Amino acid sequence: MCGIMGYAGDKEAADIIIDGLENLEYRGYDSAGLAVNDNGDIKTAKTVGSPSGLRPTASGIKGRVGIGHTRWATHGAASLENAHPHASVSGMFSVVHNGIIENYEELRSGLEAQGVVFRSETDTEVIAHLLEKHYKGDLKGAVREVLPLLSGSYALGILCEDYPDVIVCAKLSSPLFAGTVGECGYLASDVSVLSGRCTRIYRLNDGEIGFLKAGSFKVFDSDGCRLRKTEIKIRSLSMDADRAGYRHYMLKEIYEQPAAVRRTLAGIISGEHRIKPGFLKMSDREIKGINKVRFVACGSAYHVGLVGAYVTERLFKRSSEACIASEFRYMHPCMDESTLVVIISQSGETADTLAAMRLAQSEGVKVVSIVNVESSTIAMESDKLIMTRADREIAVATTKAYSAQLAAVYALVIYLAERSGELDKREAARLLRGLMEIPDKQERILSSGFDYSSVTDRLISSGYVCFIGRGLDYCSALEASLKLKEVSYIRCEAYAAGELKHGTISLVDKNSLIIALGCCSGLRAKTLANVKETQARGAGVIYITGGDDDDAYENVIRIPRCEDIFYPLLEIIPMQLSAYHTALKLGREIDKPRNLAKSVTVE
Ligand code: F6R
Repeated sequence: MCGIMGYAGDKEAADIIIDGLENLEYRGYDSAGLAVNDNGDIKTAKTVGSPSGLRPTASGIKGRVGIGHTRWATHGAASLENAHPHASVSGMFSVVHNGIIENYEELRSGLEAQGVVFRSETDTEVIAHLLEKHYKGDLKGAVREVLPLLSGSYALGILCEDYPDVIVCAKLSSPLFAGTVGECGYLASDVSVLSGRCTRIYRLNDGEIGFLKAGSFKVFDSDGCRLRKTEIKIRSLSMDADRAGYRHYMLKEIYEQPAAVRRTLAGIISGEHRIKPGFLKMSDREIKGINKVRFVACGSAYHVGLVGAYVTERLFKRSSEACIASEFRYMHPCMDESTLVVIISQSGETADTLAAMRLAQSEGVKVVSIVNVESSTIAMESDKLIMTRADREIAVATTKAYSAQLAAVYALVIYLAERSGELDKREAARLLRGLMEIPDKQERILSSGFDYSSVTDRLISSGYVCFIGRGLDYCSALEASLKLKEVSYIRCEAYAAGELKHGTISLVDKNSLIIALGCCSGLRAKTLANVKETQARGAGVIYITGGDDDDAYENVIRIPRCEDIFYPLLEIIPMQLSAYHTALKLGREIDKPRNLAKSVTVE
């Protein structure tokens, strides 16, 4: 989504801001802009496309205090007019904003009735105009009056011509961080941008108003009283954003999966294949009292939740389901003290997932969060937290964080099953041993030297692509389909294999390609029967299997055998690589696919 970068210090601001915006590019963008306060004269530069496009115009902009923004369009197309920062009528205020102002139409009509002429279609512009209307020479006072008028979500960076050395910042449900080092102050919506630049980093909380100056950061509550902020420690994110010789971050991250799974499991499981003491700190009574488990997440993390639900039913023997967070939060979900909600998020900032977590917490149910970014809002607000140790994921399409989430979910379910008495200790240890062997098997797939060119040719030339599978293979089919469409833009879908003939098989003809995931041994024969139905209608087939019963297929991808429940950690790898190589052949922007953002901070 959008990104904010600000600087107040003793150096020229524009270059520093553009560098920071370039670090935020991985989040997705379609336009960018900056504003610099040059001793009371705010100057602005904007561009459509990458923030690097700001360099030619910004080179003439002098000043040591400024704000910048990468925009992911929500209200209005990607254009210079809609790019941030947005200025008030007289130019006294300049504003960058992440989030959505939900009541902007009403605010805009009110301002237009007072004669304000808007220059953009954005929701953000109302904030600049409101600040100007409420400003009577007291910057803090104006900000305190305007914030309560805004509903929705925001992270804001504000410049005011009368205060040439200050960036004002505020947030509601959208992350914002400030950092200082020596005589410099930085503002950013993503803490990773600050970690290499600052010695002290602070997280702004909802309702707080921050004043960032060269080397100082003062924070006030909504009543205007000064707050004492504690610095946050950033430990879990490696800032190594180097492609290490790989052509794309996505490929590097695919290859980092064994390490991500190993690190994640090492944080949870001891060398004796036991869950480490102190994990989650739930009493046996609490665990035995759980009647229902709901995994709540978005996108790929939701697919992890689906795996979690299947495995929960099988091992923990509790009713379980995966819920899409944007649905869950509005479905009036039935929850009580016997419900366990498992929140899954790489970024820890996904707006719908965060809202779902807060909803569950407000109803007093038990919540466990599985998060990759330790400094994220979900991690900070979680009572029971499992960290995935995938390290920083740069490519927009998730791969290594997905695998790390799967590993954490397996460990969690085995833990719940053992502590509740549904799984005996020996069986739990056997499963944990099997789980810990998975990274070696992932390495075997990654080093197999399989040539994906015939798979990519088939994917590109087919008129209809459908991934099928049953049970856990179906969960992987959903993720495989998402990966392919994200990075290659090929239209495809995923179906539970047994569901195909309830309608969708009408699409199957000789131009179709069916990618069948048939790893789970108990269901393989049934999936193969469904494959035969598609072959009978002329479809081509690519078959992914952990078995040997497949010689009939032209394109077979074999993966190492493992415990049935762990196949999702293996079978997804050839699917990720197929998606990657297809996108490469099609010349797509693999690490930053069109329209996508790494962290979806608006609902
Ligand atoms: C797909 C992808 C997304 C995310 C989803 C949730 O490759 O990355 O579908 O999985 O946006 O993001 P997090 O896990 O950050 O909550």
